[in-house]
Amino acid sequence: MYVITGATGNTGSVAAFHLLAEGKQVRGIGRSAERLQRLAQMGGEVFVADLTDSEALTRGFRGAEAVYVMIPPDVAAPDLRERQRVITESIATALERAQVPYAVSLSSIGADKAEGTGPVVGLHRMEERLNRIRGLNVIHLRCAYFMENLLVQTELIHETGMLVGALDPELRLPMIATRDIGDAAAQVKVSTVGGIVTGLRGAQAVAKAILHSDGAGELRSLRRELNLHLLVRRSLHQFKQEDYSCLLDLLNPGAHESLARFHRDDALRVLWRLCQNQPRLIWLGLRGLLTNGGFPPDGRNGNGA
Ligand SMILES: NC(=O)c1ccc[n+]([C@@H]2O[C@H](COP(=O)([O-])OP(=O)(O)OC[C@H]3O[C@@H](n4cnc5c(N)ncnc54)[C@H](OP(=O)(O)O)[C@@H]3O)[C@@H](O)[C@H]2O)c1
Repeated sequence: MYVITGATGNTGSVAAFHLLAEGKQVRGIGRSAERLQRLAQMGGEVFVADLTDSEALTRGFRGAEAVYVMIPPDVAAPDLRERQRVITESIATALERAQVPYAVSLSSIGADKAEGTGPVVGLHRMEERLNRIRGLNVIHLRCAYFMENLLVQTELIHETGMLVGALDPELRLPMIATRDIGDAAAQVKVSTVGGIVTGLRGAQAVAKAILHSDGAGELRSLRRELNLHLLVRRSLHQFKQEDYSCLLDLLNPGAHESLARFHRDDALRVLWRLCQNQPRLIWLGLRGLLTNGGFPPDGRNGNGA
């Protein structure tokens, strides 16, 4: 069962329909059964709950293999930061209580910064809170500025030829269609961690190709990255239980530091650093690729090696 919050929204609805089209079971959460009707008609399960109601969310998340979480925009909130905190806490508590193993969060560009980014600070805090949940495997989609933000200004643009906003007009701002975010969110479980980022980068490359007839470089590096992920995935597919235990044993402090320090999207650099810190990971990976036998060749515990 896949549970989608904001299932009537821009990204949630796309993720839900994408999963339903793949034949998955989907439970969509929103505040109105009426607005969730389209999802029900497509075979989804409707669950009415407010995101501030953690008890209801716990029931809604129960039995979920993965949950898509988001903090809805609320321009009327007298204290936006507090509103974001309440929703984050409610969602996090429900994920904990329902013991959800996987989550994908709708975050934003700039969420790596702890301050100075306005409402995005709330998403930084949401990421930090979700990262602290034991046993939860969470991925944050740090997406760019939504193209749909411009829709409210179409009339103004049409009449005056201008855009109005708080952003520096010279700022080169990456943008994305919310459809692509929902699409990427729905792919998380069927692909690797790299699959999400590559989904978004794929969209970027296509945009470049359309705008400047120049997306070839981006697509080439994307293909290289995908091939690397595929290689890792192939190796992991051959792992037996004892190989996984061995993998955990081999993650020495240096390997842990590399995992924390380097961005997982840069797979080549992470793998290189991991293998520098713990060369026996190369053996483990190769054995996975070439055989499905046990490991390691010279003793079980690689800690501190
Ligand atoms: N705009 C940008 O450029 C940008 C860029 C990066 C990240 N973001 C982030 O994207 C998120 C917003 O995305 P969006 O604007 O596309 O939103 P949206 O999907 O339109 O969000 C609203 C969704 O949340 C549901 N919802 C609203 N309040 C709720 C509540 N109290 N309880 C339960 N469900 C509730 C709504 O359903 P019902 O009304 O049917 O209940 C709807 O499905 C924000 O976290 C924002 O920071 C935005």
